Amino acid sequence: MAAQQLPDGLHLDTLAVRTALERSQYGENSEALYLTSGYVQSSAASSAARFAMEEEGFTYSRVGNPTVSSMEMRLAALEGTEAAVATSSGMSAILLLGMALLKAGDHVICSQSVFGSVIPMFSREFAKFGVETTFVPQTDVAAWKAAVRPNTRLLFAETPTNPLTEVCDIRALADIAHNAGAFLAVDNCFATPVLQRPVFMGADFIIHSGTKFLDGQGRVMAGAICCTQKQRDELFLPVIRTAGMVLSPFNAWVLLKGMETLAIRVKAQSTSTLAVAQWLQAQPQVARVFYPGLPSHAQHELAMRQQSGSGGAVLSFEVKAPDVDAARKNAFHVLDSMQVLSLCTNLGDTKTLAAHPASTSHGRLSEAQRQLAGIGQGLIRVAVGLEHIDDITADLARGLNTL
Ligand SMILES: Cc1ncc(COP(=O)(O)O)c(C=O)c1O
Repeated sequence: MAAQQLPDGLHLDTLAVRTALERSQYGENSEALYLTSGYVQSSAASSAARFAMEEEGFTYSRVGNPTVSSMEMRLAALEGTEAAVATSSGMSAILLLGMALLKAGDHVICSQSVFGSVIPMFSREFAKFGVETTFVPQTDVAAWKAAVRPNTRLLFAETPTNPLTEVCDIRALADIAHNAGAFLAVDNCFATPVLQRPVFMGADFIIHSGTKFLDGQGRVMAGAICCTQKQRDELFLPVIRTAGMVLSPFNAWVLLKGMETLAIRVKAQSTSTLAVAQWLQAQPQVARVFYPGLPSHAQHELAMRQQSGSGGAVLSFEVKAPDVDAARKNAFHVLDSMQVLSLCTNLGDTKTLAAHPASTSHGRLSEAQRQLAGIGQGLIRVAVGLEHIDDITADLARGLNTL
């Protein structure tokens, strides 16, 4: 299962278009979509050797698929890791991470500001199997350090976070993890490898929801863990081939095509996001804008250093309101007044998507957990797409101007 031969030192834009498994005997230019569950074996002996992992070759698509392999190779090339394991969604990548890495009695330290479903994944699902998790403030390095225990096995962070765009210091967390003999996993959904490559700052595992920018056009669910080849072969493959949270070849093929335009999309969408953030900051009905590209953002300098000088393509803002009920009403009014933007909880799409985190992505959290995560009822998240900037601001102005 060799990759196509490419010269060393290629740039990310080139790797995004060119990295894939070697072509089939037909010489297809665009990577082939292998929609097959099984593979015909040349002999019973070869089949036995492949199932025993003693011989390279495909057997069954829960164990491996050429289109999925191409997608994994391409993502690993972008992240700068040796390998990647594709999964059926971003959440199943985190499930795979936990299943492969953790056992009863282990301890995890997780940012309290991560994507809403990640919190119950650790606090409820992994807890059922005897794994304890301490949630700490995303940006407080001392709190991460203080939470370390002798049985700490994993530190889990997302940067910037969904939806408040809090930025953590990846290098500092990697040092804490490694000094404790633990691993650091970083969810790189928001920044993507175009803006940030956590492995070069010491992260051990890079988590992706491919559903976001990697697809980039809101079509499929996908996820991945980027890691070393040894971790892929010895840690993750034995679990995924048993547990089966694999990526479908069709979705892998969509991601392969999506990644070809990743750099150009992320850069264009990030430029527009900065402009939308600056515009929102000047609106009298807006209490606060959360965007790492703004100098007013608490970790602006760190973000600029860590994210190639860009704030990324997602921002959040809070509408002004006298109390919690009015905040929710005002946020709903802005969202319901939109005529162009989509009221949709995804992000990383070419279409601009706006959502109300408190009642959607973070709706399953208790009020206390939500408050801890800083998700107010007046908060709106905007994942900026490729529409003209004036049309995006005009659509948000419809609701803001009529509050
Ligand atoms: C930062 C982040 N990580 C992980 C996920 C989960 O990904 P998926 O929806 O593909 O399971 C999401 C989903 O919104 C997310 O925003």
